[in-house]
Amino acid sequence: MPESASTLDVLPPHNLVFSDLHPACHDKRSDILSGLQNKQKSIDPKYFYDIRGSVLFEQITRLPEYYPTRTERKILTTNAKAMAECCGQDCVLIEPGSGSSEKVRLLLDALKPAAYVPMDISVDFLKQSAIQLAEEYPWLRIHAVCTDFAKQEKEPEGLPEGKRVIFYPGSTLGNMKPEQAIEFLKNLGHWLDRDGGVLIGIDMHKSTRVLEEAYNDEQGITALFNLNILSNINGLIGTDFDAGRFNHRAFYDKEKCRIEMHLVSKLDQVVSLDDTRISFARGETIHTENSYKYTAESFQDIAQSAGFDIRAGWSDERQLFGVYYLELQN
Ligand code: AVJ
Repeated sequence: MPESASTLDVLPPHNLVFSDLHPACHDKRSDILSGLQNKQKSIDPKYFYDIRGSVLFEQITRLPEYYPTRTERKILTTNAKAMAECCGQDCVLIEPGSGSSEKVRLLLDALKPAAYVPMDISVDFLKQSAIQLAEEYPWLRIHAVCTDFAKQEKEPEGLPEGKRVIFYPGSTLGNMKPEQAIEFLKNLGHWLDRDGGVLIGIDMHKSTRVLEEAYNDEQGITALFNLNILSNINGLIGTDFDAGRFNHRAFYDKEKCRIEMHLVSKLDQVVSLDDTRISFARGETIHTENSYKYTAESFQDIAQSAGFDIRAGWSDERQLFGVYYLELQN
């Protein structure tokens, strides 16, 4: 739909404006099918997050082995004041893929932004989360935007004046290959005026044991999360995957500095989508996720290649996770 068809509503809490830019729903069938027809079969990790997948991910974030979420929360809480100094007074805080806007709550009191701009592709979830936040923070001006951030080249109209700071927590950047991460950060740079900034969470390289345990938890929640992607795409495009015929596998590739998640076929089998057949040999895998880990040096390289300097960084005592404040190079 053209931009003119977007709606701009002032929702019940007086401090909330909601604009729906109607993100186009792309062709899921050919998107998924093309990944499954590659030599190394793959499914994009964005398909993890149907309702059940989102609930399972929520459970992952509370597992004893999965350190990233709680470590990042602790870093944000401990250093909120210093982060606020980087962002300055009255910034406009923009969060792509804001989801439930859980982490920004750790910063709001210290930051006192002129406005908070949560952006998400899922309209109902965004609306519900924004209303909730608006009620909890009556002093906060919220301008929620339903859009596909990755395809949004310029910022939506009607945002308040002020320095732009993009908040991108959760090590979401880790899903991208380094070249894609650079492209993504460059694109963020186009959104910013000279004085803008990016506050970003990055999972750090560490011992293989700690990393592999985080993706192979004892309770098997990560396995359920990984396998659920098959049920989700069955529902989305009508494949007939039987999740019981696959095993979860996750390992750290030290050379590539990434966790790889795969689903391993337990036997020779054929999966159908209408007239299309996709055959699996026993032991063959579907690659479902990369989760890149960075060192201070390798992340600095990425940031600089994208045109940013690192102005500040915060970590925990074990250097498990990093939060960085980036500004455009002058
Ligand atoms: C949401 C992409 C940051 O890579 O750790 C958790 C997703 N996958 N367990 C991550 C995930 C398996 C997570 N990210």
